[in-house]
Amino acid sequence: MADTKKLFIKTYGCQMNVYDSERMAEAMGGAGYETTETPEDADMILLNTCHIREKAAEKVYSELGRFKGMKADKPDLKIGVAGCVAQAEGEEIMRRQPLVDLVVGPQAYHRLPEMEEKTRAGEKALDTDFPEEDKFEKLKGRSKAKRAPAAFLTVQEGCDKFCAFCVVPYTRGAEVSRPAERVISEAQDLVERGVREITLLGQNVNAYHGAGLNGSTWSLADLIWKLNEIDGLERIRFTTSHPNDMQDDLIAAHGECAKLMPYLHLPVQSGSDKILKRMNRSHTAESYIRLIERIRAARPDLLLSGDFIVGFPEETEEDFQATLDLIKEVKYGQAYSFKYSTRPGTPAAERPLVDDAEASERLQRLQALLSQQQKELQDAMVGREVSVLFEKEGRFEDQMVGKSDYLHAVHVAGSGAQIGDIRKVKIVESGTNSLKGVAIA
Ligand code: 5AD
Ligand code: SF4
Repeated sequence: MADTKKLFIKTYGCQMNVYDSERMAEAMGGAGYETTETPEDADMILLNTCHIREKAAEKVYSELGRFKGMKADKPDLKIGVAGCVAQAEGEEIMRRQPLVDLVVGPQAYHRLPEMEEKTRAGEKALDTDFPEEDKFEKLKGRSKAKRAPAAFLTVQEGCDKFCAFCVVPYTRGAEVSRPAERVISEAQDLVERGVREITLLGQNVNAYHGAGLNGSTWSLADLIWKLNEIDGLERIRFTTSHPNDMQDDLIAAHGECAKLMPYLHLPVQSGSDKILKRMNRSHTAESYIRLIERIRAARPDLLLSGDFIVGFPEETEEDFQATLDLIKEVKYGQAYSFKYSTRPGTPAAERPLVDDAEASERLQRLQALLSQQQKELQDAMVGREVSVLFEKEGRFEDQMVGKSDYLHAVHVAGSGAQIGDIRKVKIVESGTNSLKGVAIA
């Protein structure tokens, strides 16, 4: 096609944004755009942004500044900002960076093609509405192109929890669950296109309460059991969850549902009850530890992942020690940790900050402990048999790289496996960030 235009999308932040970027690329495919990996070739550049911490939001403006020269050379180039910074700052983005043509919030992506047309007519386009219609229905992929073997599928968006530090309830809005029927048909479509592992996404995915197939409301466990029936789909994961929504049926599914992988990301944020209360988390350190015990009783080999914030307003050394104690008790195979970052408009934004150097020093100590635990749990995989889904070729000849059931990266040489194959692998070595194994079946 002579007039195919090129779209470059840069994605920041969470997996939900990765999924949204794919959907935006498909929507723009219908408007005559194909994606490119290089911004220099692009007729349109879209930054799909993250607002979760200050640094993430500031990155957007420095990136936009870098496009100035490109726009001077190519006046027809359109520049758009999508995602949570778009939702949170709206028109302010165009005021601060006038080269921006388009600002689109996460709930309005299906309107992108019309917005792009508007920019071609020389106007600016802004849409940060929370419309009633299901954007994913409107964004339905036209393409039947083959997909990589592991895919994301958004089933729930938004959050009603209002943790005192978090912008998500404001940028992504209230909790909304997609009807099960739509999720299932999208999953079937992905499987037909070569997908063997699906990660169900939601800001608070275990609070899923979508319309079921039988007129009742379905829980996340109900949805997982239905997806378990899809032939060709071999692995199911979900992220990210809140401890208070970990219902009995979901815990049981971890023990009973063969395709549900033994990995759970269950953020606790802090181990101090005082801080948890101030964070508005509505659970205690003790209730979290008891919950983990119940989940591990259902699935003893489960690998646990978490999120932690250090230096939350008024966190003392004693509070921080309580977080270290919780980590020592729980033992995490994977973790993400952050220094508290003030987010305008959130309840915690008005509170007195912990000294920055102190917070940085705590983060270092926390990360040292988490790294040590991760390494120990990774090393403990040596000698064990895991299943590996191969996702790409390795750097060496006949070497393939995939993910184990526990989400460890595993390198396997000489297996003859293809991308998309699942093999039994015996782990023989533990490296810095990945395992080495040999195929045994
Ligand atoms: N400061 C630091 N970390 C934050 N997170 C969310 N908001 C903030 C903030 N204001 C972290 C939490 C959450 C993860 C996605 O990001 O740990 O679980
Ligand atoms: Fe943010 Fe997660 Fe808390 Fe919701 S549950 S407010 S997304 S940290």
